[in-house]
Amino acid sequence: MGPKGWEAIRRIKGVGSLFAALVLLNACGRSDIPARLPGGDPERGRIAFQQYACATCHIIPGIVGAKGLAGPPLTAWANRLYIAGVLPNTPDDLVLWLQDPPRISPGTAMPDLGVTERDAWDMASYLFRLK
Ligand code: HEC
Repeated sequence: MGPKGWEAIRRIKGVGSLFAALVLLNACGRSDIPARLPGGDPERGRIAFQQYACATCHIIPGIVGAKGLAGPPLTAWANRLYIAGVLPNTPDDLVLWLQDPPRISPGTAMPDLGVTERDAWDMASYLFRLK
């Protein structure tokens, strides 16, 4: 086999291990998330979604009027692997994202809404209940 053949095999193996890593992430990443996250109150989270106008930009299951399409729908949040394609989807990282998206991902269309840490935990605890 010539160098081209080996190159092709290397590429296929690379894709294979990326796939395996994703499957692994999916398998072990999600089961460790408790229904009620530490420090977060999903019922307060409901109110916070309205206060910060998240609903104008996002579809959020169970939130009245949350039909916005400027941002991605937040459906089945607990099963997502990434936040905005840049952070692993863990409760801690979601809390960071909600408090200041442009700091995490410069140029993102989601603005810094001045979300407090407590409100971020409340909203995160709501989102991580969405399966
Ligand atoms: C002005 C519109 C706007 C508002 C208001 C807004 N977002 Fe976003 N949001 C976006 C956009 C656009 C993205 C995609 C960002 C990216 O990929 O860089 C996003 C991304 C996200 C993500 C990651 C989504 C994914 O699929 O990875 C979450 C979670 C999120 N927003 C939650 C919220 C919450 C909670 C609020 C209220 C505190 C909120 N957003 C307010 C526009 C908005």
